[in-house]
Amino acid sequence: MEETVGALWSLFSFLLLFFAGSLVLLAALLKFLRSMSWWCSCSVCEAYVTGSWTAHFGNLCDWYAHLLRESPTRTIQIHVLGNTVTANPDNVEHMLRARFDNYPKGKPFSVILRDLLGHGIFNVDGDLWRFQRKIASAELGSAAVRLFASCIVADEIRGRLLPLLDFACAGDKILDLQDVFRRFAFDNICKISFGLDPRCLELSLPLSEFAAAFDKASRLSARRATTTTPIVWKAKRLLNWGSERELREAIGMVNLLAMEIIRQRRKLGSCSNHDLLSRFMASVDDDNYLRDIIISFLLAGRDTIASALTELWGNDCHDFRPHRWLTNGVFTPESPYKYPVFQGGLRGCLGKEMALLDMKTVIAAVVRRFDIDVVGDNSSRTPKFAPGLTASLEGGLPVRVRRREES
Ligand code: HEM
Repeated sequence: MEETVGALWSLFSFLLLFFAGSLVLLAALLKFLRSMSWWCSCSVCEAYVTGSWTAHFGNLCDWYAHLLRESPTRTIQIHVLGNTVTANPDNVEHMLRARFDNYPKGKPFSVILRDLLGHGIFNVDGDLWRFQRKIASAELGSAAVRLFASCIVADEIRGRLLPLLDFACAGDKILDLQDVFRRFAFDNICKISFGLDPRCLELSLPLSEFAAAFDKASRLSARRATTTTPIVWKAKRLLNWGSERELREAIGMVNLLAMEIIRQRRKLGSCSNHDLLSRFMASVDDDNYLRDIIISFLLAGRDTIASALTELWGNDCHDFRPHRWLTNGVFTPESPYKYPVFQGGLRGCLGKEMALLDMKTVIAAVVRRFDIDVVGDNSSRTPKFAPGLTASLEGGLPVRVRRREES
């Protein structure tokens, strides 16, 4: 008798769960169907829905860039997604400065990156954003932090970057310059942000668990934004399946290591340190919040600098023409709304000055001593953009390095 009651009870629980699950799925499906403007049959929406754009473009960003170049207003709409994409400097300025409050990053954006970035500065609006911006702005603008950062960069160049390039010259080795710069930037940003040295750019080019987990987590988080509807990745996350399972594991590893960094910093004591974490610790107690801050700084200062050192800009990006920035011999910066690499307006990059100084120091040290020739595929065809949280070159940048005659 007891067994029968138990079996009936299990069956009842199963049916209840099944019924509840079906209701949730049905509700989600209805929400999705309502959110789509199925009636739109303009050429852009049709290309999007049928996926025909993939015949000519490797990724959505390249396709959007093409559409923007063709558009007389430099603005396009993907009606079925409810998205407007603009490269019109007036619109960009309107959103980033004049009517900043009307254009928060918003929930649809922040929910995609919440698991990785938490409540870090890149992923929040309002008071939470204002609080972090105020502290970060004071720290990144301070002379002490800038001096600390420039000493770290100079050490990394002298102690690791130049010896590695010398080593490659001597063995006539092909180096992936993008990988070299990512390692360089990772070492620097870890030292500047937490006072710890991951030694990624040592001659043996060791694998860093932290860097690998962080890369994977960023790549898979960015991939969420490319699914036709968030329901797809949310369902995969619920079921802990496929890329979402990998993402969970990668974020788990990042969290473990970030917490270890915080633990070590607490043990060492933060008072006498110049690194950013020590300085944030003075005003933030919550370890989870500190973790979010750490991850944001890694994202801010790593791939950005590596990519900027790897790429050039514009139709003639293949040509080495530094004088493109000069007018009558004088440096003339482009409007931040036309060329928003550092973002313009109220959410403009806080590390811009530091990043520019780092990059100039690297370029001056490398170009004076070495000639760098791109080899392989990237030398003969248009470099391919690999979309992610930050832009990079697909397939890296294989180069051969030669010592300059005069050096
Ligand atoms: C070449 C290197 C860099 C580039 C191209 C770059 C670019 C950008 C861009 C486009 C944004 C806006 C992102 C957004 O709103 O989603 C941004 C924001 C930011 N950047 Fe950078 N960045 C670079 C280096 C750095 C470095 C080295 C740091 C600090 C160590 C840094 C700190 C920040 C911070 C804290 C923000 C957030 C500003 C806010 O939301 O109010 N950046 N950066």
